[in-house]
Amino acid sequence: MATELASTIGSPHARILSVGTYRPDRVVTNAEVCEWIDSTDEWIRERSGITERRHASDQDTVVSMATASGLKAIAAAGISPSDIGMILLATVSHPYPTPSAAVEVGELIGARGAPAMDISAACAGFCYGVAIASDMVRGGSATYVLVIGVEKLTDIVDKHDRGTAFLFADGAGAVVIGPSETPGIAPVVWGGDGSQIDAINMTSSSVAFRDNPELGYPTVVMAGQQVFRWAVTEMAKASTDALDRAGITADQLDAFIPHQANNRITDALVRAINLPDTVPVARDIITSGNTSAASIPLAMERMLENGEAPPGGTALLIGFGAGLVYAAQVVTLP
Ligand code: UT7
Repeated sequence: MATELASTIGSPHARILSVGTYRPDRVVTNAEVCEWIDSTDEWIRERSGITERRHASDQDTVVSMATASGLKAIAAAGISPSDIGMILLATVSHPYPTPSAAVEVGELIGARGAPAMDISAACAGFCYGVAIASDMVRGGSATYVLVIGVEKLTDIVDKHDRGTAFLFADGAGAVVIGPSETPGIAPVVWGGDGSQIDAINMTSSSVAFRDNPELGYPTVVMAGQQVFRWAVTEMAKASTDALDRAGITADQLDAFIPHQANNRITDALVRAINLPDTVPVARDIITSGNTSAASIPLAMERMLENGEAPPGGTALLIGFGAGLVYAAQVVTLP
């Protein structure tokens, strides 16, 4: 007979306790972007919904922005940094393959000793983090998990690329996930489609660039229409599945907070899930651009801050992007 091992049992349920964000100071208008690419303010507004975005300064790094947002989330949760039992940091723009940004953030926020790791799931990274954190809290491997979505995309976007320069931007958002008496994070619906790896990828690898500098520094390239088509079809299904897995219908939502990829994608998802007009929809992209892993917590904080979404309300989150990968879940707002 196998030797019996000890096991852990965590909280019956998990929930998002708080949110904190960091928005870089520098506002970049469409007019400024049009100095770098052949475009117009009208085209950018019409095709994406964006009127302005935030660009990080030279002093803002993935680690500094993540730290600022994480400290705010921890303070808002009413816990101490030393209570954090895991740091999950979702990003694709940390410039060091190792060590992780997460472990450095742990040191800077005063959570030395906490396990920490980065998640590479592009614009789905934050929702991946929420799903993993929820399972950790319920499984007993951490009581409080800090989940951060952070990007300095301006470091990996070619400002002269017409297909990406107007879209992508910088920022950070963090949540603390902890124990709850009632369900606060419904089952995740997630997946990946590696056959579409070319839809959003890099111009080359850093190794190829080292060996052939004429390739140019690696930057993001996107087959915009391919991603758009996938998002409006497959992400509509994932949104509906996430509602089903939560056991609710769209009219029971208090907010819809999709990844801020493009306002037209959001419009299509709203139609596809038959979201009633009365349910507020995140539109943070208008002034923040597409900040990949940071976009959902940034949009969540904005909706709570300006009173569009009620604290303790029910929200559908869905993140999707390079991979292609996605994750969706219904949550109780902090
Ligand atoms: O966050 C990760 C996931 N990413 C996304 O979800 C992004 C998904 N894709 C999109 O949001 C859209 O594809 C974009 C906003 C990136 C582009 O919009 P689109 O409507 O798909 O544009 P398009 O690439 O089909 O181009 C339409 C037209 C073309 O001109 P013609 O051939 O119709 O004459 C392009 O040459 O717009 C032209 N165009 C531009 N015009 C002005 C392409 N880029 C630009 C530009 N400014 N920046």
